[in-house]
Amino acid sequence: MVRHLYVHIPFCPKVCPYCSFYKEASDRNKTQAFLDAVLSEAEMEADGLRPETVFFGGGTPTALSTPQLRYLIGGLRERIDFSGVREFTLEMNPATVSLEKAGAMLELGVNRVSMGVQSWDEELLKVLGRVHSGAQAERSYRILREAGVGNVNLDLIFGIPGQSRQQWLESLRRTIDLGPDHISAYCLTYEEDTEFFERFQRGEMAPESERDAGFFELAMEELEAAGYGQYEISNYAKAGRECLHNLGYWRAADYAGLGPSAVSTRAGWRRRNLADTAEYTRRVMLGEDRFESLERLDAGMLRAEQIALGLRTREGILPDTVDSRRGQALLAEGLLEPANDRVRLTRRGRLLVDEIAVELV
Ligand SMILES: C[S@@+](CC[C@H](N)C(=O)[O-])C[C@H]1O[C@@H](n2cnc3c(N)ncnc32)[C@H](O)[C@@H]1O
Ligand code: SF4
Repeated sequence: MVRHLYVHIPFCPKVCPYCSFYKEASDRNKTQAFLDAVLSEAEMEADGLRPETVFFGGGTPTALSTPQLRYLIGGLRERIDFSGVREFTLEMNPATVSLEKAGAMLELGVNRVSMGVQSWDEELLKVLGRVHSGAQAERSYRILREAGVGNVNLDLIFGIPGQSRQQWLESLRRTIDLGPDHISAYCLTYEEDTEFFERFQRGEMAPESERDAGFFELAMEELEAAGYGQYEISNYAKAGRECLHNLGYWRAADYAGLGPSAVSTRAGWRRRNLADTAEYTRRVMLGEDRFESLERLDAGMLRAEQIALGLRTREGILPDTVDSRRGQALLAEGLLEPANDRVRLTRRGRLLVDEIAVELV
């Protein structure tokens, strides 16, 4: 039985120059056909799917209007057994939050909201090309709480060009002061096919690895001290507020993905839907193959994924993974440590997660 469902909504109020998630600027004319395609795909995927977690990501799910979200969520509930859902997350952009929309989402069963704040600093928000101000993000957070959303995550980005240590510290403290249940703190990455990547290639911007490693350590210190446990490299939560959907993914559980670019991993197969809304919609409605790729996961690939994903988590990886001479050396060097019946990264090890993953896989 598959216990996790992801739905990709590929629309955004405006496309941010650093973001490589599949999305396009909202176009009201295409939306109804897209919603119907997702519902048709849900019918095809319903067998053997009884989600405990549902995650609406994107893009920006709240780029859809409230009636469109009602249509989509109501339609999914008619096609998929939602009776076992424990966590239902919706991603929001601070520019698309309203009391009316938040209330309607709660009525539809959403019980967790993830909002992309990225930074509270007006200059840095401009660098990131965001459509909202810090004040608007704070207002949106308060609206979510006023509407009764009991579980809120805020996304932050660090390592922004020109960002000072003081600005990052202030962003962390202002976030902590608001008291969200969960905080994601991502280091800016220069992803291919983004405007930032082009500017990086032209030499106009570049990651500053040493500065960013310092910012990562600052995040660990400040967030842990404020009661947010780091349960994955980029994710911190108050006790009991870890994201169940992402935990499933990091534990390499099977999941179903609906919508353009969504990935599904079911019974040893990984399928990726076409990252093209119009073509995805056309093919689903005609009953044609909607996949961009289809691959069989053999035991070696599954094991490599379990190590790479598990290493990023507080739970860690199975002890037999470090039986090798290199694994034992990493333990001796204090980069890995035993924890319960598993092995995980130490704080020092977390700074080198990518290098260590390569050595163990
Ligand atoms: C799919 S986005 C959804 C959030 C929502 N659309 C918004 O922007 O408010 C999820 C998160 O990924 C992070 N993200 C996107 N691109 C990134 C990049 N290049 N480097 C680091 N984090 C990134 C951002 O923090 C963003 O909030
Ligand atoms: S960060 Fe969010 S709003 Fe910006 S382009 Fe990516 S998904 Fe869209």
